[in-house]
Amino acid sequence: MHIFSLSSLFAHFDRWYNAPAISPTVSNLPIFSLSVEYLFRSDISICLEEKFVLRKHIMDGGKGNVDGTKGGMRDGWKRSGLSNVNSHCSLAEMDGYDISKLRIKSKLNSERQRSYDERSLSELTSGLSKCLEGYECMYSPGRASAYSPGSCEWNSFEPHPIFVDAWESLRRCLVNFRGQPVGTIAACDHASEEVLNYDQVFVRDFVPSAMAFLMNGEPDIVKNFLLKTLQLQGWEKKVDRFKLGEGAMPASFKVLHDPVRKTDTIAADFGESAIGRVAPVDSGFWWIILLRAYTKSTGDLSLAETPDCQRGMKLILTLCLSEGFDTFPTLLCADGCSMIDRRMGIYGYPIEIQALFFMALRSALVMLKHDEEGRDFIERIVRRLHALSFHMRSYFWLDFQQLNDIYRYKTEEYSHTAVNKFNVIPDSIPDWLFDFMPGRGGYFVGNVSPARMDFRWFALGNCVAILSSLATPDQSSAIMDLLEARWDELVGEMPIKICYPALDCHEWRIVTGCDPKNTRWSYHNGGSWPVLLWLLTAACIKTGRPQIARRAIDIAESRLLKDSWPEYYDGKLGRYIGKQARKYQTWSIAGYLVAKMMLEDPSTLGMISLEEDKLMKPIIRRSSSWTC
Ligand code: GLC
Repeated sequence: MHIFSLSSLFAHFDRWYNAPAISPTVSNLPIFSLSVEYLFRSDISICLEEKFVLRKHIMDGGKGNVDGTKGGMRDGWKRSGLSNVNSHCSLAEMDGYDISKLRIKSKLNSERQRSYDERSLSELTSGLSKCLEGYECMYSPGRASAYSPGSCEWNSFEPHPIFVDAWESLRRCLVNFRGQPVGTIAACDHASEEVLNYDQVFVRDFVPSAMAFLMNGEPDIVKNFLLKTLQLQGWEKKVDRFKLGEGAMPASFKVLHDPVRKTDTIAADFGESAIGRVAPVDSGFWWIILLRAYTKSTGDLSLAETPDCQRGMKLILTLCLSEGFDTFPTLLCADGCSMIDRRMGIYGYPIEIQALFFMALRSALVMLKHDEEGRDFIERIVRRLHALSFHMRSYFWLDFQQLNDIYRYKTEEYSHTAVNKFNVIPDSIPDWLFDFMPGRGGYFVGNVSPARMDFRWFALGNCVAILSSLATPDQSSAIMDLLEARWDELVGEMPIKICYPALDCHEWRIVTGCDPKNTRWSYHNGGSWPVLLWLLTAACIKTGRPQIARRAIDIAESRLLKDSWPEYYDGKLGRYIGKQARKYQTWSIAGYLVAKMMLEDPSTLGMISLEEDKLMKPIIRRSSSWTC
């Protein structure tokens, strides 16, 4: 194999794929997939093979055979995170993927279980076209065994400085408990006077760090974190005199070192210290989602199968599957119960929680054991998923057509024949929405409850809806269409807005309670959060539009290091470092790393993505007039 013969081919692919005219939207997918199939059959399968072999060769510091057959191939894959892929099979099968039909055979490793999504066009773009720019820039420079530029004969494969800095900064945030790393603190901003609780390990903040470590072949820290938080779940949790549900997971925990006694202890916060005293509904869901990511990445089913993990999952599920007065399958929440942990008018049925709930249910479904108790939970999950997906896809979905329908709604309808079931008053549609809604595109709105539709767009909920397949394939592409059509508003100069648009004036006063941290276009109120880049990238890859992720990453890359990894940016375009933003915010760093690594190796998408479940598709029944 010769590097120059590949370069022209890669350049060709870069041009071919980046041409906007052939963005692989659903409508042009058939033509496109034909070309891909053709290319895979001919040169590309060779290219992919060569790319992997090359990478492995470089990982080995240029030693060993370039065909990768000797010199610790498994080790090489492991360090690069690629070892993880062939262990996907058990969970992938359990996920109910129809991989067998869709998989494109890889000559290199026939065991590699990657769905069509995972290997589709995205792989060609990011993987192949990027490879000449710097194959090995994806590996953590902090690892002794990882890529070492000095020993590599391909001197052009120097890791990108921002990548090196990100890994170093991430490692500086590691927290040890009795000698073992158990998480990363929220921010390592030594310049900031106010520490608040940024010196704690937040469950939600640790997820992108965990993904980065898993991708880099370092699963132990993730396992330690999962076990440590599981122990914390077992604590009795009280706010004043009121006891929280057994399954509640902490928002964060802090390791206290006693230098005199040389002991470590832990203090956890389940909401009793949090501003507003709200319990984090998202923590338990992230915990389940991370357990699946760990299992899928390592192939180590034994952790999820332990009685402790099974019990932990069931306790979380008991909390969110319990029956009560609800008429909706969505989960009723207090304001500030998730990433947006201050009053922002997200009480009710916020999209972020509903999408995470859906993903956690689907993740638990593949990890629960089929014993008697497990089967009972499985049945309840299946019933809930069915109702939840119907509700969300029907009532939270908004596109041009739906907006026009709501605009013409009649109100005060009674009985089963009502079209406007929740009595949404058309006058409550905000003015901005009529201009914002493109002719092509759509999204899940922020919240739906009686006579209240929160029409704001939220990034996390929509990305997780794509990744969990809560969104149908058509809805997923429509979300990406909207993002492209409203790029300036949603991405602008820093990816990506946490929500759009910002609340201002009277509305800000009423909804946030005059929160000075959440003024318009700042923080949770329309601020731009780099951490969301990893979820955006994953959603882009899943929908076959890696070029969007590439564009967003390029924008972020131009500022993040220079600005010392801020927590968030302010302004309509996200141009200013947030007024109270921490620097060296860990999830901004980890979010960037994961986005980069995922674009480089889209097979890692499987850790956070779930294919559409055929069982949840609406059953098409024959009408009574059916004759043949
Ligand atoms: C802020 C964010 C929250 C995050 C925490 C730690 O409170 O709103 O989502 O978990 O900081 O970074």
